[in-house]
Amino acid sequence: MTMRTSLNSWKALVLHAEDMKQQHMSDLFVTDEKRFDKFSIQLPTMLLDYSKNLLTPETMDKLIALAKECDVELWRDKMFSGERINRTEDRAVLHTALRNRDQHAMILDGENITEQVEETLEKMRTFSSNIREGHWKGYSGKRITDVVNIGVGGSNLGPQMVTEALKQYSDNSLNVHYVSNVDGTQIAEVLRPLNPENVLFIISSKTFTTTETMTNANTARQWLVSSSFDDKAVEHHFVAVSANKKNAVEFGIDPENIFDMWDWVGGRFSLWSAIGLPIALDLGFDKFIELLDGAFEIDCHFKQEPLHENAPVILALLSVWNCTFLGAQSQAILPYDQSLHMLSAYLQQAEMESNGKSVSWDGDEIPYATVPSIWGALGINGQHAFYQYLHQSNNIVPADFIGSIKSVTPVKGHHETLMANFFAQTQALMNGVDEQQVREDLKAKGRTADYINKVAPHKVHKGNRPTNTILMKRISPRTIGSLIALYEHKIFVQGIILQICSFDQWGVELGKGLANKIEVELRNGDINPAHDSSTKELMSYYQAMKNIGL
Ligand code: F6P
Repeated sequence: MTMRTSLNSWKALVLHAEDMKQQHMSDLFVTDEKRFDKFSIQLPTMLLDYSKNLLTPETMDKLIALAKECDVELWRDKMFSGERINRTEDRAVLHTALRNRDQHAMILDGENITEQVEETLEKMRTFSSNIREGHWKGYSGKRITDVVNIGVGGSNLGPQMVTEALKQYSDNSLNVHYVSNVDGTQIAEVLRPLNPENVLFIISSKTFTTTETMTNANTARQWLVSSSFDDKAVEHHFVAVSANKKNAVEFGIDPENIFDMWDWVGGRFSLWSAIGLPIALDLGFDKFIELLDGAFEIDCHFKQEPLHENAPVILALLSVWNCTFLGAQSQAILPYDQSLHMLSAYLQQAEMESNGKSVSWDGDEIPYATVPSIWGALGINGQHAFYQYLHQSNNIVPADFIGSIKSVTPVKGHHETLMANFFAQTQALMNGVDEQQVREDLKAKGRTADYINKVAPHKVHKGNRPTNTILMKRISPRTIGSLIALYEHKIFVQGIILQICSFDQWGVELGKGLANKIEVELRNGDINPAHDSSTKELMSYYQAMKNIGL
């Protein structure tokens, strides 16, 4: 397959980027009053404004030409129809089948997977109402009050991020907790106030082999058994979400209480499956369905809209434009809604585990920059921490600003202040302020010439920093579903344009394998002399020091 760099549209964009680097966004706004109309898209649950990027209509035409030359529509259709586009693992990529809300038949290997999905959803419905309404009893006959989800990566971040985002929609029938870290501090802290008689553990692991999850699951099991004095208690307090039934049953989980996962659902795209069970338990099953509805709306948009009006396609093209052609190396995710405080952590996995690669799907070295590193925090907190860097450092960091028109928790006087900052920041990042303006402002404040000469250079903001603004109506299961699906499809298109297999994660394996070997050495106190001197000495120091009591 030809490298993207040999495409005409790619070459045209390389040249065009050189021209655009000479432009300033603020001038583009002055010369074209219709930028917002041209570069914004209204979706059912949100508005996307991408006009504050360094682009013109010509740029967009060239980017759309690139999407066409890369056959984005063809690949999109392949994904939705269940072709095995996860080439390195030879799997279909069908997380969209999990939210196929019009329930059309989806045939994979001769089977209608819509039926399997609906069956699992039904099982989730029954199970979640049994737990929430207190019909399910623990080993001593008491109802469940607390749910502890044990999982890591995709088996944690999605459900936890959504649980946090939709906290205000919980009726608090249950307390839902998450344990992901193998650092014992986390599970110890979570379990400390709980009574084993009232706790349900969900072991969320597609493979049911992930070391961190299994270590936590065994600790939880031991905690329960040491209080109930009965191995049989495990059946009353543990359920699993896994594609590996055998291991889950061996762990002691009743086969009836194992929720299916399928190899056509990647971990980081799995919150729509039974991996989302803690969400259904927390909010009630109907709200979980609303989450799926919101995602389905974006699936339809992505499938049906022409490329130039297609929000995930536009977001992907902008990322490629900003990073690959204009040279940005990181991207900030900046929510101005407390509910979204875990969004950047979630998107880190979604985007970086998917597209943080440097080999093409044909196994060739990729000669261009692929995806940026994703980072961020709640906008207001960020303003008082790292926004200095966003405004004045030498590195340009494109940023997504995400806010809501209405707050789910209106508190008099707060939302306008929050949103004033939301609008001000993207304007400031775009316009900046030049030295002449700085000098005039200081002079108007009566500052001396000496002071102005000293301070003026420090107050210059070059601006020209790209941002997207996503303005949601209000946080709800539906809007959150749409927001996540928007980013999922963005990541998919990014992968197609960059020629990356977005659905494997080989980069996670190397460290895992080494850790397994090193763990044996640490446990046996037998450090392999073949390690490099740094690793060997660090391990020796650790072994020596841990035995002398610090
Ligand atoms: O981080 C690597 C990874 O394989 C993720 O893709 C996945 O979400 C996570 O580990 C957990 O895997 P599992 O659900 O099999 O425990």
